[in-house]
Amino acid sequence: MKQRILFVCLGNICRSPAAEAVLRDMATSQNAEIEIDSAGTYGGHAGEKSDPRMREAAARRGIAMTHRARQVREEDFDRFDRIIVMDDNNYERVFRLAPDRAAQRKIYRFVEFCTQHPEWSYVPDPYYEGREGFELVLDLLEDGCKNLLAELMTNDGRQ
Ligand code: 4NP
Repeated sequence: MKQRILFVCLGNICRSPAAEAVLRDMATSQNAEIEIDSAGTYGGHAGEKSDPRMREAAARRGIAMTHRARQVREEDFDRFDRIIVMDDNNYERVFRLAPDRAAQRKIYRFVEFCTQHPEWSYVPDPYYEGREGFELVLDLLEDGCKNLLAELMTNDGRQ
């Protein structure tokens, strides 16, 4: 069955829409049918395009970002198989939104899927950083999405 993945960060204009775009790009090139979306724990940027600095950094790697920001909501636990958060603050907020234990078990930390960046226990917020911050986010996202996709393709049909 088609698997459904939701990435979550704070504003839904930098990290999680980039994760959405990176995974979609990889899934498309491997013909994997996966439903992918992203959302933020903070709704203040709802309706906005992603941060231009994030879009430009992704574009330099050939990845287009078209997402419009939205806030995560309780119904997302029904719609998605996995909710993958960028940092501990996101984890706490999403955990508190989960209606039951089964929903709580759908929450993952993005870095669980990274193998090349053991020094990072979260995906750092690039909002107040320079260009290197955005490049680091994409390095982490490419690392983790590659392994996440491999896992999703292995699990295909089980869920
Ligand atoms: P994101 O980055 O969580 O990766 O989308 C941020 C975007 C906006 C804000 C903070 C982080 N903000 O404070 O508005």
